Amino acid sequence: MRLLVTGAAGFIGSALVEAALAAGHEVLSFDALLRAGRLENLAAVRSTPRHRFVKGDVRDAAAVAAAFEIARPDAVLHLAAESHVDVSIASPTPCVSTNVCGTLTLLEASLAWWRKRGRPAHFRFLQVSTDEVFGALGPQDPPFTEESPCRPSSPYAASKAAADHLALAWFRTWGLPVIVTHGTNTYGPRQHREKLIPRAITAALAGRPIPLYGSGAQIRDWIHVEDHARALLAALASAAPGRRWLIGARNELANRVLVGRICALLDEARPACAPHARLIRHVADRPGHDFRYAVDPRAFMAQPDGRRQFP
Ligand SMILES: NC(=O)c1ccc[n+]([C@@H]2O[C@H](COP(=O)([O-])OP(=O)(O)OC[C@H]3O[C@@H](n4cnc5c(N)ncnc54)[C@H](O)[C@@H]3O)[C@@H](O)[C@H]2O)c1
Repeated sequence: MRLLVTGAAGFIGSALVEAALAAGHEVLSFDALLRAGRLENLAAVRSTPRHRFVKGDVRDAAAVAAAFEIARPDAVLHLAAESHVDVSIASPTPCVSTNVCGTLTLLEASLAWWRKRGRPAHFRFLQVSTDEVFGALGPQDPPFTEESPCRPSSPYAASKAAADHLALAWFRTWGLPVIVTHGTNTYGPRQHREKLIPRAITAALAGRPIPLYGSGAQIRDWIHVEDHARALLAALASAAPGRRWLIGARNELANRVLVGRICALLDEARPACAPHARLIRHVADRPGHDFRYAVDPRAFMAQPDGRRQFP
């Protein structure tokens, strides 16, 4: 397939581009190179003939239309976002602008392209969203399912929920083949240093305090970025349009346990600097901090051919 991937120079985007090229697809990477976006993230695919990079902003309708003409996509995988919750709390406007208005621009362009091509049945618009749109779970609550109501807490989560609703409205109103994925917390290479795991590692290596929000009791379900990327390609291959797919790893950990494990691993690697846990500092909690996220990925795995087509 010919894929147009937005946010391709970011953390998950760059892993997705690598996975898509390895699976034989053609990819046009589209990214404005803002904050977390770095061209170096795409270094491994720079000389791949089936890959092109275009610098552009998803809020810029002309740039998006030009990208469609170059990519001639069979599918759009939309990852471009202001993805940091703290940044969205400090400054909500750019977050809402990119995550909501940028998605609107891309949906308009996708609908125009899809109609121009005669509404091909195989076309897909993959809206890459987060489990944060569902809000917080209590310790004993069952994990979120695709029927769970959206109850976002942060401006980031609210903007993603708004974008998801827009995408599904484009399916219900015009039939654009939209799939929404809700992935859990993702870790792995090339994640921006502002996120929990890279921030803890870089602080510990530099001998600086490792900040931990509140008591560190918050629980997240962690998935490796390569698994998340493969799950997105599986959704592209197998998901029925109009559906939400929940992508998780059944790998729930409290933040303080996670940071403790990082410190223990660093103790093994650098015994002279042990114990790294002495650097952990509990800082004032994030306002509106959700206690727990977890998703039930059973529906995802039970999709027709979901397992078989998992690349
Ligand atoms: N990281 C996670 O744990 C996680 C979990 C679930 C879902 N997601 C979703 O996956 C997607 C990617 O997340 P990530 O962690 O890779 O984020 P990231 O911040 O690493 O990358 C985002 C990319 O989007 C680009 N971008 C931002 N604004 C843009 C704009 N206006 N126009 C064009 N490009 C723009 C940035 O330059 C960057 O390359 C996001 O939509 C996010 O909501 C992330």
